[in-house]
Amino acid sequence: MSNKNEMPVVDIDDIPVNPSNNPWLSEVIASRRNLLKGGLGLALGGFLGGHLSGCAATNKNASPSVGLKNVSPKIGFTSVPLQHAQDFDRVLVADGYTARAFFSWGDEVVTGAVPWKADASNSWQEQQLQAGQNHDGMAYFPFTDAPNDHGLLVINHEYTNPTLHPNGPTETRDAQGVIRRPEHEVLKEQAAHGVSVIEIKRDQKNLWQRVKNSSFNRRLTANTPMGITGPAAGSEHLKTAQDPTGTRVLGTLNNCSMGKTPWGTYLICEENWNNYFVNRNTADWQQRVSHKRYGISNGLNSSKYYWETVDPRFDATPTDKQYFKGFVNEPNRFGWVVEFDPFNPDSLPQKRTALGRYARECATVVIGDEGEVAIYSGDDTRGEYIYKFVAQQRFDKNNPKATPDLLDEGTLYVAVFHADGRGEWLPLIWGERGLTARNGFMSQADVVINARAAADILGATPMDRPEWVAVDPHTRELYVTLTNNIERGIKVDQPVDAANVRKENHHGQILRWAEKKSNPAATEFTWEIFLLAGNSAQSSAPENQQGNIRGDLFSCPDGLWFDADGRLWIETDFDDAEDVYQPMGCNQLLCADPLSRNVKRFLVGPRGCEITGLTGTPDGKSLWLNIQHPGISYPASDGKTRPRSTTVLVTKDDGGVIGT
Ligand code: FEO
Ligand code: CA
Ligand code: CA
Repeated sequence: MSNKNEMPVVDIDDIPVNPSNNPWLSEVIASRRNLLKGGLGLALGGFLGGHLSGCAATNKNASPSVGLKNVSPKIGFTSVPLQHAQDFDRVLVADGYTARAFFSWGDEVVTGAVPWKADASNSWQEQQLQAGQNHDGMAYFPFTDAPNDHGLLVINHEYTNPTLHPNGPTETRDAQGVIRRPEHEVLKEQAAHGVSVIEIKRDQKNLWQRVKNSSFNRRLTANTPMGITGPAAGSEHLKTAQDPTGTRVLGTLNNCSMGKTPWGTYLICEENWNNYFVNRNTADWQQRVSHKRYGISNGLNSSKYYWETVDPRFDATPTDKQYFKGFVNEPNRFGWVVEFDPFNPDSLPQKRTALGRYARECATVVIGDEGEVAIYSGDDTRGEYIYKFVAQQRFDKNNPKATPDLLDEGTLYVAVFHADGRGEWLPLIWGERGLTARNGFMSQADVVINARAAADILGATPMDRPEWVAVDPHTRELYVTLTNNIERGIKVDQPVDAANVRKENHHGQILRWAEKKSNPAATEFTWEIFLLAGNSAQSSAPENQQGNIRGDLFSCPDGLWFDADGRLWIETDFDDAEDVYQPMGCNQLLCADPLSRNVKRFLVGPRGCEITGLTGTPDGKSLWLNIQHPGISYPASDGKTRPRSTTVLVTKDDGGVIGT
């Protein structure tokens, strides 16, 4: 007789993920449909209501305010207009402010570095000591004796562009059709990934400068040794030919957004690491959840970089029954949060596996009244989930470094957004709610390594590509950017629902929620849609491309950050060459009032770039953001020098607080 209790005990990596023959995945789809049934009325009501009334708010009854101090911040600048020019090659900031390039790809970081060469002929060894490409998440760490004048800037380098090489990447095809790459190019790409730490300081003229040859300056790359801690450390599924212990790994990949802890560490996030690996064995790939469920390539090559043709650890094709003799487990060693102390240049970064493995966008830290620690993250893939980790131990602000391994024990949760404005955090705990041997989970290590599959079983809500999470310093409300999802309402497992209301969602939305009693460790919350991005409801755009923004137009919210006064800063990432985004001009930084929901455009970047990474000094008078992958000559802006991802410093000309 067919009975769930009689299902054989199997290893998680042996579970098929094809819905047609996978009982538990079919159940997940069924539960998503049940959610939809409850949510459809409200979803349409909220969506259409916003348009018909011209109001920004949806789902008013579910207002998540938690009763803490909640006042409108001062937003005093005049909006910057949209920029439509095809040759727009600079940063335009609001009147009364100055934006200047501060730290670009190729700039010298570590002692011994040589200057950037404009023809991109720097060697891979030189690149190891210079700024990487594609600056992304970033945080400022002040020195305590002069917090507004002296600090460390820590910057992620997410991936590499063709501009890294003099004439773009070299790719040749062998007799089997496999694309091959020269080793020196792969090594340069690996060196341009990771993180930069730079010491920065105001000079005698009060201007910020990078401190050359500082002992704090550091580069982490795709080859920097790192530790692995938490429940998956030492797991059979983390062992490789290079590391039979499953506790040491080389490097970090695709470092998108980040987190910053009150105990002084930086949290690197590993986002689209799946693009770097290939498993050529189709039969194995089909049944290996830790590969297939994460989109690892099953072709001749990895999907993007072809590093595996030079560096065997990126070839995850099983080679031996004793799989840890090869690199089939190497992909399981990415997708984590990596914690390190920027003030200790010799510290070994640690991959904290208790927080789960997925395409992690960010790791936003929130501390509760009693020292509860929660870390919020989005899994930025279409139809993936929002997670939070609650540490078992508490943070003691009077002794901030008392628990250095605070992130190794705790509970990982995944979010369910109910249609009535309530939400739940469901715990991903081995042995509970179907996360058992019966479904292939033999340990908590299996749960965290296969967090997506575990969240599928619990019936988490598939979201429209969750990117950054930001916390309101006044109310402790959480905001998340759902950047877009063109598969929404198209794919059967991603029907529209109350939180993801638009079919074929090109423009994205921002949600916000309040934890019960504003406790970050709570397992219940209330939520609402803060705004739907996109064209105005009065425009002739198709209905699924209309939003309900009060104020300046934008699309595809991505970076999201609150300053200390409670201004909500929104950064965009859309393809400004695509037809659907033509009304939005170039990518931008905007500022929103969380109370009135009014939005004003503060800055516009050059054609082809994404605006990301946002951090500032405690006094709010110095702000850094990143111009990632400008498509046009920037920062030289001379029409000929190759573009460089660049950290930009923004100051107010009267020395005041940014945004006021
Ligand atoms: Fe690297 Fe989801 O942005
Ligand atoms: Ca992003
Ligand atoms: Ca994005």
